[in-house]
Amino acid sequence: MKVLVLGSNGQLGRCVSDHLKNTDFKVTYTSREQIDITDLKKTENQILRTSPDVIINATAYTAVDKAEEDKKNANLVNHLAVKNIAEICNQLGCWLIHISTDYVFDGNAKTPYKENDKTNPLGVYGKTKLKGELAIQFSGCKHIIIRTAWVFSEYGNNFLKTMLRLGAERDEVNVICDQVGCPTYAQDIAKSIIAILPHINLEKDIQGIYHFCGDKPCTWNDFAKAIFSEAKSLGIRIPNSVKSINTIDYPTSAARPAYSILDCSKIKSYFGVNDSDWMLGVKTAVKRLI
Ligand SMILES: NC(=O)c1ccc[n+]([C@@H]2O[C@H](COP(=O)([O-])OP(=O)(O)OC[C@H]3O[C@@H](n4cnc5c(N)ncnc54)[C@H](OP(=O)(O)O)[C@@H]3O)[C@@H](O)[C@H]2O)c1
Repeated sequence: MKVLVLGSNGQLGRCVSDHLKNTDFKVTYTSREQIDITDLKKTENQILRTSPDVIINATAYTAVDKAEEDKKNANLVNHLAVKNIAEICNQLGCWLIHISTDYVFDGNAKTPYKENDKTNPLGVYGKTKLKGELAIQFSGCKHIIIRTAWVFSEYGNNFLKTMLRLGAERDEVNVICDQVGCPTYAQDIAKSIIAILPHINLEKDIQGIYHFCGDKPCTWNDFAKAIFSEAKSLGIRIPNSVKSINTIDYPTSAARPAYSILDCSKIKSYFGVNDSDWMLGVKTAVKRLI
């Protein structure tokens, strides 16, 4: 099976590449330098030339706050370019594995979000990611959309790396305690994608949206404390105090959902994929960063 990875230099793209290296799939890895997905015609030509059986789209416009001012580019990357990729997949008869986000929801739920729950994104990032999902579904291409949340790893920019950086510089850090979610280790998302690949072409009814995230809900403040606890055990400098603050005390351009726990039972029942053990992920990522 021929696999084309788009966005192979991003946080998830690098994790997917780590895992694909240990498989027998014939893989083409492409970063923005090889395929800039916003160049629609060139992207089409390059995908047609590669003629993959599966495309894993790890690209995205992920700067949630910047997107509020930069709507056009966020929409181009997260929606219009995704629509183009989906239409090419449909033309080729190729599968598209695409990653989406908990930010398609407004966070007003009281129980974990299921795949069919009503979406209502609060900001530009979530709105453009939702438009990307809808464009894939509308294109008619064979697809798997994985919605995930609070992604961290040893790669790229993420909350874990920000906390370690702040911990090295400051005696006190302020971290939000009134948003609840499930941190997800990007290496576990990559593993879940690898677990899905063998099902492709064998089973017809697997198309659709799947939720995948960490196993234990927590607040950003709890997440920070777990990171510092692991860092401390490895002799890394941590702050003396991790202060709890509310969202209202830390204004950002984009609103975030206060509750973004995803119900991951569907991906488990279809593909035997377990939730991300995020505490183990924190241990692994921190160790890899030393
Ligand atoms: N990070 C999170 O907390 C989070 C939460 C929920 C869902 N997700 C979803 O998870 C997926 C992976 O996110 P991530 O954390 O790996 O993000 P990331 O580290 O920001 O990676 C995104 C990648 O997309 C690439 N890219 C952006 N525009 C492109 C373009 N025009 N052409 C080609 N490549 C382009 C970037 O390239 P450059 O490096 O050159 O900019 C980067 O390598 C995304 O779909 C995201 O929406 C992430």
